[in-house]
Amino acid sequence: MARPTQAIVDLEALRHNCRLARSLCGDGRLMAVVKANAYGHGAIPAAKALEPLVSAFAVACIEEAEDLRNAGITRPILLMEGIFQVEELEIAAQRDFWVMLQNHQQLDDLDAAALSRPITCWLKLDSGMRRLGFSLEESADLLQRLRASRNVSDDVVMATHLARADELDNDFTARQISAFREHTSALGAPCSMANSPGLLGWPDSRDAWNRAGVMLYGQSPFPGPHPQADQLKPVMTLQSKVIALRDVAAGESVGYGGAWTARRGSRIATIPVGYGDGYPRNAGNGTPVVVGGQRVPLVGRVSMDMITVDVTDLPAISVGEPVELWGDTVTANEVASHADSIGYEVMTRMLPRVPRRYLGQ
Ligand SMILES: Cc1ncc(COP(=O)(O)O)c(C=O)c1O
Repeated sequence: MARPTQAIVDLEALRHNCRLARSLCGDGRLMAVVKANAYGHGAIPAAKALEPLVSAFAVACIEEAEDLRNAGITRPILLMEGIFQVEELEIAAQRDFWVMLQNHQQLDDLDAAALSRPITCWLKLDSGMRRLGFSLEESADLLQRLRASRNVSDDVVMATHLARADELDNDFTARQISAFREHTSALGAPCSMANSPGLLGWPDSRDAWNRAGVMLYGQSPFPGPHPQADQLKPVMTLQSKVIALRDVAAGESVGYGGAWTARRGSRIATIPVGYGDGYPRNAGNGTPVVVGGQRVPLVGRVSMDMITVDVTDLPAISVGEPVELWGDTVTANEVASHADSIGYEVMTRMLPRVPRRYLGQ
């Protein structure tokens, strides 16, 4: 028997989530964020499934963009952090990569370049994230400079990133949106603000371009219930099977460091998944795992290749019983909440050792 741990990636669920995202864009266009291997789902199969539904893709670096182009993706691909080396500008020109400009060096490099054709540029403005981008006060001058450049094609998109849009009761996002609008609305350029929580929770952030990531993969960006986010379908199911069962007496401890001790006579099931697969090592005692369709608690420390769960209350469980680590019943967000993490990280960390099986291709 092959190791039974695998990630099932449901491309129909991905398309469902994408259609939901698109329905929120109004007249605006949707850009699918497929950086970091499409948040662990496999950038190429994800992009191929999404390509008919979206207007463009976004990645973090040119290597990710080249992988998509080499796989036959034809839509524009935005490099969200811009170029890291000046040579990337000519590659962008030739391969239709769009470039986010976020610092003065990148602007100077663009001015100095002799490109074979002009490129589409986005201008990153810092409206409150304090991470990348130009000040809002510079936006009009920089736009004018780019519009005059022989190396810039089409109209420049004015972009910013929301720092706290997952906090629906915090007015920080409303302040970011209004500051961004105050400095860009008179410029006549297309704009882009919304990420997934913006698109779902902050209608005023929707604009000409909307950049959806995590919602495409079926995880809500919000900690609580939300009418639209609750319609998302998880795309990845991490599954495995029970490979061993043993009874431990009250007072015995399980796994490295004796991190869990049985308070009663207990049945322990061992599952071949661990931090060597991307299952978070700091998922604590009590993290839910679905065995034979029932939620049971993880007990003991997560090892590199295995975890142990308490199946005392499920007497019918036997070796070979199917296991879901996350998917429809327990979400990646829920596992993350037991591991001092977020669903984004849990999904993205899925390592290459885990075979991906694609449904709905
Ligand atoms: C600039 C930018 N836009 C959009 C996104 C997508 O965000 P989300 O996954 O929350 O939709 C990201 C992701 O980190 C990003 O860095």
